[in-house]
Amino acid sequence: MDIQSLKKEIESEGEKIKTASELASFKAGYTGKKGSVTLLFEGLKEIKDRDEKKEKGMQINALKNLVEEISALKEKELISLKRAEELKDIDVTLPPHEAAQGSLHPINLVMDSINSVFMRMGFTIEEGPDIELAEYNFTALNFPDDHPAMDMHDTFHMENGYVLRTHTSPIQIRAMLKRQPPLKIIAPGRVYRRDAVDASHSPVFHQVEGFMVATDVKFSDLKGILNVFTEEIFGAGLKTRFRPSFFPFTEPSAEVDVQCVNCRGKGCKTCKSTGWLEIMGCGMIHVNVFKAVNYDPEKYTGFAFGMGVERVAMLKYGISDMRHFFENDIRFLKQF
Ligand code: PHE
Repeated sequence: MDIQSLKKEIESEGEKIKTASELASFKAGYTGKKGSVTLLFEGLKEIKDRDEKKEKGMQINALKNLVEEISALKEKELISLKRAEELKDIDVTLPPHEAAQGSLHPINLVMDSINSVFMRMGFTIEEGPDIELAEYNFTALNFPDDHPAMDMHDTFHMENGYVLRTHTSPIQIRAMLKRQPPLKIIAPGRVYRRDAVDASHSPVFHQVEGFMVATDVKFSDLKGILNVFTEEIFGAGLKTRFRPSFFPFTEPSAEVDVQCVNCRGKGCKTCKSTGWLEIMGCGMIHVNVFKAVNYDPEKYTGFAFGMGVERVAMLKYGISDMRHFFENDIRFLKQF
C-alpha cells in the first residue's frame, strides 16, 4: 500500500476506536513489531538512492507520528469516557453527610478559662509530673511525718518514695527549687486520691494551683486576685468571703467561699441554705516551705491557692453529679 492510502487508513481506523483493546490493536497494527508502518521502515534498507531514501524516511516518520498522535488523543478520550461512566449513578447535587465534630471536654474548657483569667493577670503556666516524690507532695510542703493524708487510705503509694500526687501543690516546690523569685505561676493538673466513686468523689480529678512569691506579697494581694477570678468565672456581682482554715503549707490559711451561683446568696439546695459555696483553699506560703526550697523567709513572702476543677465546673454549669465528667456520654459532652 502506498503511503498516501496508508495515511487515509490510519485516520479512518483511528476514528473507529471505542475501547482500550481496540486502541491496543490499532497501535500494534501500525507501529508494533509487525505493524505496517514498522515494516515500511524495514523496506527502507532496500532503497539505494540517498535522496529517495531520505524523502521516504521522512514520510514514514510522519505516519508513525500520526499513529502516536491519534493514540494519545484516543487514550485521553477513553479515560474521560470511563470517568463519566463511573460517575453516571452518582448524584453530585445531594447534600453531604454531616461530619461528626468533636468538642473540648467541659473539664478542659473550665481549666482553660481558669488558666486564662490568671494569665491575663501575669501568671504563667507550669506543670509537674503525676507520679511525684512523696518528698515534694508532703514533706517539703510541711506535712508532719504522721499526717493522716499520707495514710494508705488516702494516697496511692508507688515504689521508691513516689506517690500519685494528691494535689498540685508539689508544683510549688518544683518551681521554687528551679528558680528564684519573683514567681507568678498557675499550675493545672490531674490529682489522685483513694476515694470511692460517688456524686462528689473520684479517685482522679483535676486541680488548678496558683502561687506568687516576691519581696512584698500580702494577703490583700491574694484577696484582690481571687476576687477578679470569681467575678470572671462565675459572673459579676457575686461576693467572696475568706474563712480561717488550716493547711500545713500555708499560714495563715483560708477557705474561699463565693456567693451561691444558683440563688446568689439567698439560700437554696445547691448551697445547703447557707448562701455560700466553698471553692478553694488558700493562704500565705508557710516559712517552712520557703526553708525547704532555700528561699530566705526574711526576704520573701508569697501566697498560694488551689481549687478543684470538677467542683468549679459543676457550679458553673449546674451539674449535680461528678460522674458525668468521666462517663463520657456523648449526649452530655455535646452540650458544652
Ligand atoms: N493543696 C490543697 C488541697 O488539695 C489546696 C491548697 C492549695 C490550699 C494551695 C492552700 C494553698 O486541698
